[in-house]
Amino acid sequence: MPTSDEDSKKINILIPEVRLQQRVQELAQEISHDFKGKEIVAICILKGSFVFFSDVIRHLDMPMTCEFLGVSSYGNKMVSSGEVKVTLDLNEPIEGKHVVVFEDIVDSGLTLNYIMNTLRARKPATLKSCSLLFKPDALKVNVDPDYVGFKIENQFVVGYGVDLAGKYRGLPYIGYIEHGH
Ligand code: IMP
Repeated sequence: MPTSDEDSKKINILIPEVRLQQRVQELAQEISHDFKGKEIVAICILKGSFVFFSDVIRHLDMPMTCEFLGVSSYGNKMVSSGEVKVTLDLNEPIEGKHVVVFEDIVDSGLTLNYIMNTLRARKPATLKSCSLLFKPDALKVNVDPDYVGFKIENQFVVGYGVDLAGKYRGLPYIGYIEHGH
């Protein structure tokens, strides 16, 4: 059902809050199972993943430290520039550590591909990726996130940390902007 938001754009709900929270718990259970008995470094990709990250880490059942990696996104556009720029680097080395990267969306895959290559060069013992959303039809490079919350169609979404020109991050659900608004 459409609902209105700031700027009075119509946002349709694609993934309701309850479903998001269920799936986030399931992802955390899968990761906890796979890394049983190990300590991990959980990396939050800023800015879009901060809401997902803060929810998922509270359901992880293992010792963990948190790191933050800032990368530039689309700016104010709805299409990828294809350029990835690191705006904030990790505080600690990850050599020999078990690392899980948490991303909001894999769209063209350029961002996650760049991140994984950059982090792999730092020689972690394990490097896995978890993306809340995945648009398989939009992929331009061969990346395959190890954990995926939801596969979605090739459409522009907002909410739950994900923005359009910096807005809509505070919505508790994933939505899309109705055409014509
Ligand atoms: P990619 O490099 O094309 O895979 O895009 C990755 C990044 O672009 C994500 O981390 C998001 O920040 C942003 N992005 C991709 N699709 C969307 C969308 O539908 N809405 C908002 N941001 C998006």
